[in-house]
Amino acid sequence: MQRIFSGVQPTGNLHLGNYLGAIRNWVHLQNQYECIFCMVDQHAITVWQDPKELTRNTREVAAGMIAAGIDPDKNVLFNQSMVPAHAQLAWVFNCVARMGWLNRMTQFKEKAGKHKENASVGLFAYPNLMSADILIYKATHVPVGEDQKQHLELARDTAQKFNSDYGTAFFPLPEPLIFGAATRVMSLRDGAKKMSKSDESDYSRINMTDDADTIALKIRKAKTDLFPMPDTVEGLADRPEAANLLGIYAALSDRDKTAVMAQFAGRQFSEFKSELVDLAVSVLGPINAEMKRLMAEPSHIDAVLRKGAERANAIAEPILKDVYDIVGFLRP
Ligand code: TYM
Repeated sequence: MQRIFSGVQPTGNLHLGNYLGAIRNWVHLQNQYECIFCMVDQHAITVWQDPKELTRNTREVAAGMIAAGIDPDKNVLFNQSMVPAHAQLAWVFNCVARMGWLNRMTQFKEKAGKHKENASVGLFAYPNLMSADILIYKATHVPVGEDQKQHLELARDTAQKFNSDYGTAFFPLPEPLIFGAATRVMSLRDGAKKMSKSDESDYSRINMTDDADTIALKIRKAKTDLFPMPDTVEGLADRPEAANLLGIYAALSDRDKTAVMAQFAGRQFSEFKSELVDLAVSVLGPINAEMKRLMAEPSHIDAVLRKGAERANAIAEPILKDVYDIVGFLRP
């Protein structure tokens, strides 16, 4: 059986990177796989979250997924803390994965920065919880943006070590699914930096909650250079901001970059940007309106997540029982 698991941290605005790198791909995949999509609230608290904001953001990310076209009846949609087996398996993985593996995680180094001693233990052990998220469902495929690749390699290593330590073939080795024209969307202000929720400048990203005027303003202000669109991909080799806008256009229109480049070759970026504004508003506008409508009815979102959690628990609990038997824990 082919099963997908993927998750988003409810830590602030959903942005175009989350949408193009992950959620838009999930919408395509939901017809080919059994899918489980999760608001990973337990990952979120590895850095401080205001409790009220966390609740609101969890609902908003769920609203964003549904508004983008994820069908909550067909797929399992829930928040992580409602399914205890994630944290229970994560403890077992804390005892399987090695310190050396976690020490190599670039995301921990980036997030902890110079204050490593002051980072939470949870932030360090974060990748083990992520491995547990995936493997508690024996998921075979994990669609993510490029920034999650290293964590997925760790999940595979952990599954493999568990299997070999206990002499079993219990866990599958999950495959990353990283595809599309925008697997790494960059900041609109600096083509060397990833678009992220934590960037101080709101002009660096397009939020899924931005209205049409804001989207237009941010794209018009996006950094570019003085040269026109080239006619070959090599022509964008040292023009990261231009390459980023091209990738965004291609992903929003479900085309590849060379086709879009051929359409705009020789034209100025000011012209390209105004077409990008039209495209972005036409794709993101309806999602934004639907998110607003859903957010006006939080009890409906909560009911969707509770139902999703019931379904998730029904899959996860028997897998956790098997893990406990393999490890040798006595069970009630
Ligand atoms: P998170 O919440 O940072 O991001 C959610 C998804 O969006 C993708 N993404 C991007 N893709 C392209 N360009 C960008 N600038 C960009 N920024 C974010 C991410 O790659 C991700 O797919 N650790 C994960 C959450 C997680 C998870 C999991 C994912 C927890 N458990 C299990 C998959 C499976 C994270 O922090 O994603």
